[in-house]
Amino acid sequence: MITKGPRGTKDVLPSEAYKWNYIENAAREVASGFGVGEIRTPIFEHTELFLRGVGETTDIVQKEMYTFMDKGDRSITLKPEGTAPAARSYIENNLGVDQQLKMFYITPCFRYERPQAGRLREFHQFGVEFFGAAGYSADAELISLAIAYLKKLGIDNLKVNINNLGCSECRKKYNDALKEYLRSNIDKLCTTCNDRFEKNPLRIIDCKNPDCKEVAKDVPLIIDYVCDECRDHFDGLKGELEALNVNYVVDPYIVRGLDYYTKTVFEIISENIGAQSTVCGGGRYDGLIEECGGKSTPAVGFAIGLERLILTLEAMNIEVPKPMGPALFISSLGDGAKIEASKIAFELRCSGISCERDLLGRSLKAQMKYANKLNSRYVIVLGEDELKQNKVNLKNMETGAEEEIQLSDIASIMKARI
Ligand code: HAM
Repeated sequence: MITKGPRGTKDVLPSEAYKWNYIENAAREVASGFGVGEIRTPIFEHTELFLRGVGETTDIVQKEMYTFMDKGDRSITLKPEGTAPAARSYIENNLGVDQQLKMFYITPCFRYERPQAGRLREFHQFGVEFFGAAGYSADAELISLAIAYLKKLGIDNLKVNINNLGCSECRKKYNDALKEYLRSNIDKLCTTCNDRFEKNPLRIIDCKNPDCKEVAKDVPLIIDYVCDECRDHFDGLKGELEALNVNYVVDPYIVRGLDYYTKTVFEIISENIGAQSTVCGGGRYDGLIEECGGKSTPAVGFAIGLERLILTLEAMNIEVPKPMGPALFISSLGDGAKIEASKIAFELRCSGISCERDLLGRSLKAQMKYANKLNSRYVIVLGEDELKQNKVNLKNMETGAEEEIQLSDIASIMKARI
């Protein structure tokens, strides 16, 4: 059906685009305040990047990627997330010369998931990645950036949940304990999880299959298996979050759905947007750059789902400021006046003053109705008389006040008013 977009996609209509502009501008402002520069990576990457980066046993790679062969017989994948592409670019462009590098992106992502409220097949992320810093201060600064952003939008009641997934050494010990626990229930797991049992048992914990969820309910917790260094890192982070007055809760059940995480993971939850309540997810990923072929580089990041953010703003009745109407609406009657309206509109628009006029040949009454609908701040009516006398009434639509001005002065008067 060509008049219906693909399932799981959503148009942003002109009437609601202002919300997107608002949250994206706020993201840019907050990022800039934290010294974070923008990166833009392609919409598609070599499939291999996500197999290696996100992990072959994750749901994203196994079930959700939009992967296809291009005309040159290369396997290409639409990005399901922004971290692996940022890491690829970091390596390719030798960005490690800056020892401390912070970058953000606003990007569409694609996952073949079952659509529902807050879950789409094309969605958008505001993501932030810090490369080069191994200490917990980077984790704390990153989490505080997410909070500063949400606060700027008027959202200050979200739950911040953190957990510690340890390093590869802790993971080995934990995997043994986890397999020990799962072994007796292996026949209850889905086929994908049966396969995960040997390769990556941690993934069984966040499988969405209800039977697997039931088995995973009482698994041993990774936070009880972390080494001293990972524990110290986590304690340091908690201390710094407390110093920053960040209200966090340790949630030992967070494992996250991507394989690259080490040590800190966190999620920020909105309790009033339904089942898909995780607005922000992130964590440390000290092994990813090396996994993708670069020099061992510590890193930490997060991504906020912008559709879920908008749902949260709506659920909390937070008004996003509506864009102002045009500074001037030029109504016109007759062909001569139409050309004059076109000239004035062009001059004003070129000097940055917004201006609107009728393009449909509507009656004067209908033009005034349209000017009102647009919330125009000033209105003039141009007819043959106004042109002849070079005079026009400038009406302030807010106060109703009218003044007669020289038509030839309209541009300079509007520039002075706006
Ligand atoms: P993620 O948890 O997979 O992490 O996604 C981050 C956020 O994207 C989620 O919390 C959610 O708000 C949004 N999101 C995910 N899937 C969908 C969907 N199908 N529809 C709507 N929104 C969705 C990552 O992607 C990591 N790259 C985050 C990260 C950055 N970790 C380190 N750096």
